[in-house]
Amino acid sequence: MELPVINQQRREFFTQTLYGLGLIACGGILTSLAACEPFTTKVNTGGQATFDTVTGDPDGFLKTVGTGLVVLLKDKDGNSINGAHSVVIMRVGTLDKDEYITLSSRCDHEDCDVVAPVDVGENIICPCHNSQFSPVDGSLVNGPAKTSLVKFANSYDPVTKFLTIFA
Ligand code: FES
Repeated sequence: MELPVINQQRREFFTQTLYGLGLIACGGILTSLAACEPFTTKVNTGGQATFDTVTGDPDGFLKTVGTGLVVLLKDKDGNSINGAHSVVIMRVGTLDKDEYITLSSRCDHEDCDVVAPVDVGENIICPCHNSQFSPVDGSLVNGPAKTSLVKFANSYDPVTKFLTIFA
């Protein structure tokens, strides 16, 4: 049903205000942004960056499923898209597909940056106190960290081989 214009304007104003306050309605329930991806990261940084998977990966870590890179990505204005932290890019899936996951490098234990696996079968590891995260989806494998790595949406262009990350 079409809402009267005034109601639409009110709804838009309300939604914008919720974004500004760090709140958004997810599934009809007002909740904190931390539980509501992708808005969680969009509101925190508002950044997006494009990574060249060829020239940005001279050692070829992204050519193997299960290995990856940690890179500091900047938006068009030169600001890090993940605040003080980098982004983990992992090759996932099968070799016949160019599929990547993109994660925040921030470990929630004491804010250290994690390290991407260089060999297949290794986890993503936090070098500070050895928390471990899955190379498949960034989920927490072993603490002392309490939560999984934050996941960012991404989009891969098979022609240019550019990976765009939305943080
Ligand atoms: S900061 Fe990552 S395990 Fe302590």
